[in-house]
Amino acid sequence: MTDPLPQPTRPGFPTVRPRRLRSSPLIRGLVRETEVTVDDFILPLFVKPGTGVRVEIGSMPGNYQLSPDTLVQEIGAAKDLGVKSFMLFGIPPVKDAKGMVALDDGGIVQVALRTLRKAFGHDILLMTDECFCEYTSHGHCGVLHEVNGRTDVDNDATLPLLAEQCVSHARAGADVIAPSGMLDGMVGAIRRGLDAAGFSHVPILSYAAKYASGFYGPFREAAESPPQFGDRTTYQMDPANAAEALREVALDVAEGADMVMVKPALSYLDIIRRVKDEFRLPTAAYNVSGEFAMVKAAACNGWIDERRVTLEILTSIKRAGADMILTYHAPDAARWLKQG
Ligand code: PBG
Repeated sequence: MTDPLPQPTRPGFPTVRPRRLRSSPLIRGLVRETEVTVDDFILPLFVKPGTGVRVEIGSMPGNYQLSPDTLVQEIGAAKDLGVKSFMLFGIPPVKDAKGMVALDDGGIVQVALRTLRKAFGHDILLMTDECFCEYTSHGHCGVLHEVNGRTDVDNDATLPLLAEQCVSHARAGADVIAPSGMLDGMVGAIRRGLDAAGFSHVPILSYAAKYASGFYGPFREAAESPPQFGDRTTYQMDPANAAEALREVALDVAEGADMVMVKPALSYLDIIRRVKDEFRLPTAAYNVSGEFAMVKAAACNGWIDERRVTLEILTSIKRAGADMILTYHAPDAARWLKQG
């Protein structure tokens, strides 16, 4: 069949036609503004003591609590797909009111770091989440005290402990230190601690604008870290605030943050854009556990196309201004990107 002869455009019809640049996959590829690549991904992983541990997290299908040996396998598989950066969360065997086990050079994250370094050398980038909620018996992100009859995290008593945790992780081989507790002055305290211990070369990725979010639910199951009373609203940010996020980022930058994070990602795409535009620093976004779980749940029911929706979500986070994305979708997305 031959194409019909071209028809002249009739008066009154559009001369500007955006559809011209959507007419084929090749021209769409040429004009595409945002490209997600496997280099953008950071895969969060949960490690606990033992050997042969591989416990699936109910609300996060395909994600597991792992022991150092199975963590090596998991990272090896992700690495084969091209994922090279990882964020480690520790699940300690014992917890106390201060979370002292977090400072132990023989602690679970420290052991995992050494094991991974031995297995992979510097072919992978290892980041560590720096916080106390996984280590304290009460599940809050630091030491507690009473103020005005209310129990709250004692900001300034927690800072030196946080710095010590970071130094211990750096000593065990962490490439990037990522404090997530939303305490005032945490980046400055950690920077001073790292510098004094000889780790001035280790960068800090600050969870600078972290919101008190319902989207962390599945993570707290994964990390066994739900607060035993109350919530995190006295340290994490109010979802209603945007100007405050810029102020938080400005403080962390002034204290020496090398990279900044916005968390969660999807309900905060406006914040990612504003942070990127204002500070022009490498900006991370955390596509958190609840965001992952929603996609999985809908996909398991056959209500959405998981591959299509996931890649659309990751593209939207990148388009909003993120340079890197922490995401539990990383291995699947890496596979899909490879398939093209
Ligand atoms: C630790 C921390 C949390 C997450 C990352 N680091 C939990 C929290 O703040 O309650 C959540 C990550 C996710 O939901 O995927 N403070």
